[in-house]
Amino acid sequence: MTQENRSWEDRYQKKDTPWDSGIPSTELTRCLDQFQISPCRVLEMGCGTGTNAVFLAQKGFQVTAVDLSGQAIEEGRMKARQAGVQVDFRQADVLNAPEFGEPFAFLFDRGFYHVARRVDLEGFQKVLHQHSEPGSLYLTLAGNANEASPEGEGPPRVHAHEMCLELSTWFDLVVLHEFRFDGIVRNGHPFRPLGWSGLWRRKA
Ligand SMILES: C[S@@+](CC[C@H](N)C(=O)[O-])C[C@H]1O[C@@H](n2cnc3c(N)ncnc32)[C@H](O)[C@@H]1O
Repeated sequence: MTQENRSWEDRYQKKDTPWDSGIPSTELTRCLDQFQISPCRVLEMGCGTGTNAVFLAQKGFQVTAVDLSGQAIEEGRMKARQAGVQVDFRQADVLNAPEFGEPFAFLFDRGFYHVARRVDLEGFQKVLHQHSEPGSLYLTLAGNANEASPEGEGPPRVHAHEMCLELSTWFDLVVLHEFRFDGIVRNGHPFRPLGWSGLWRRKA
């Protein structure tokens, strides 16, 4: 395991996980409604403790949810059991060619693309390509470089032009707009960093 990968596990072990809101993402919910994304096979990359994966399963999606951290995946499995839904949780390195079977009609991440692009952008692009098919939708919720991070806190941030450059080889942009992450607490106060909500459709 690399140092980068170990540090994610350490953070879950120490509960140093400010992004782990425990509530389904309002932006994910909004996109499902607005774009009428109906239940299908979905891959959540960097799913953390599985709040959104369980939420998607409750909405009828067939969910595969992947994270490096064994602790996070264990918590996800517990949440799914408590909610009485099936989620195929996998502890794996998304950037190290895991096998998930058939391509997914919907791919989702909240806070994974903005991490993965710094570690292995080319590897991440390959993953998106490998696990999608023409017409698949990809929704990414990423930190937004239009807002400076207070004292280096909050998510890694990306510019709109970087996203467009990095994701447009295989995907057409459906819509890119700003939103605020919800459910994050910093120093005991709600913290709502600016994000990008980018919905993409795999090219024919
Ligand atoms: C910012 S957190 C977001 C977690 C979750 N999506 C959420 O919203 O709570 C990024 C997640 O990506 C996971 N991660 C980082 N690198 C990974 C990799 N190469 N493969 C799989 N998961 C990874 C981390 O363990 C962490 O759970």
